[in-house]
Amino acid sequence: MNRSVLITGGAGFIGSHVVRHFVKKYPSYLVVNADKLTYAGNLQNLIDIEKSDNYRFERTDIVDETAVDELFEKYKFDGVIHLAAESHVDRSISAPREFVYTNIIGTVNLLNASRRIWTDTAGKVFYHISTDEVYGSLGPEGYFTENTPYDPRSPYSASKASSDHFVRAYFNTYHLPAVISNCSNNYGPNQFPEKLIPLAINNIKTGKKIPVYGKGHNIRDWLYVEDHARAIDIIFHRGVHGETYNIGGNNEWRNIDLINLLCELMDKKLGRKEGESAKLITYVKDRAGHDLRYSIDSTKINKELGWSPAHNFREGLSKTIDWYLNNEKWLLNVLSGDYEKYYEEQYLRR
Ligand code: NAD
Ligand code: TYD
Repeated sequence: MNRSVLITGGAGFIGSHVVRHFVKKYPSYLVVNADKLTYAGNLQNLIDIEKSDNYRFERTDIVDETAVDELFEKYKFDGVIHLAAESHVDRSISAPREFVYTNIIGTVNLLNASRRIWTDTAGKVFYHISTDEVYGSLGPEGYFTENTPYDPRSPYSASKASSDHFVRAYFNTYHLPAVISNCSNNYGPNQFPEKLIPLAINNIKTGKKIPVYGKGHNIRDWLYVEDHARAIDIIFHRGVHGETYNIGGNNEWRNIDLINLLCELMDKKLGRKEGESAKLITYVKDRAGHDLRYSIDSTKINKELGWSPAHNFREGLSKTIDWYLNNEKWLLNVLSGDYEKYYEEQYLRR
């Protein structure tokens, strides 16, 4: 192995796609997935690659400074791709403290550990994965660029903004080789069914109401998760240290329109009468401080690094629905907490 790469949060939604991408594409890298395995982390997401020679899993809480330091001592990482986070806005509204611990303190622990072992910074990089939500909320016009001032408005985005600032501060103050990307909403397999798309798919499938916050007029830009993983690969290898790259799908949808499309696609797949699933749509109380619109200008990553999204939305959505329909056991396991048993059986008793 010629390079040792830490991927934090690799058992989660985006992380699992990034781990798979790196393990398969770079057999000469040792890919270490460090994850606490919260409700959102599930090793079943990585079943197909878990026996690969160049893959290791470490159950690590990044808030635990000693554990992080020991991990870095053990593997002497050359690169860090940091995805571990508390990631759900609604949870951040009801219980913000965990977001401060994991997203801010966890990030600082990783920055400190990197700084300590990287006495020579040649060939090293700390890559921090962030969100477009740090830029705040847009009106009907305009896009977020890399120069848009930060204006986080939820406890989740406030914690991510803070961690972004720490990464930039370590680049400026200690010359830690660091790069950041801010991405729009991801969708695809392995996403915990509390976020809009998997929640709606699961509810349509099981005939439960689909909760639409407010009027359903809020707008998000959606990107297929594998397109994000490919962007992460490119930025990890070719991103300029000290820089930020915005990543977006160029694919804006009002929530209600997106849910109607899901209903239409699922009526067909489930052999239901047209309009049947849409009857489940239920307008509920709006999210507190609900950001109206996110939209990304990805010109920089497109022009400088040659990345653009490859997946068409209808096809990506159709693939995603199929994955959830074909992985009922996964859904039951994550919703019941039974995925923990998999960790115990597969890892602890080995
Ligand atoms: P996720 O919630 O699906 O997964 C997060 C992972 O981090 C889980 O595996 C969890 O077990 C792990 N984790 C949580 N706390 C931890 C801790 N203290 N120590 C170690 N591991 C811990 O999240 P996701 O949607 O895959 O997001 C991954 C990253 O990408 C996050 O940093 C998020 O802010 C960012 N992001 C997400 C989106 C999106 O649409 N999902 C968009 C842009 C950026
Ligand atoms: P979500 O998937 O939680 O992502 P984020 O808030 O980080 O963008 O929500 C996407 C959009 O869908 C957001 O405008 C809130 C809305 N939403 C609903 O209308 N109903 C739901 O049940 C959920 C989870 C979200």
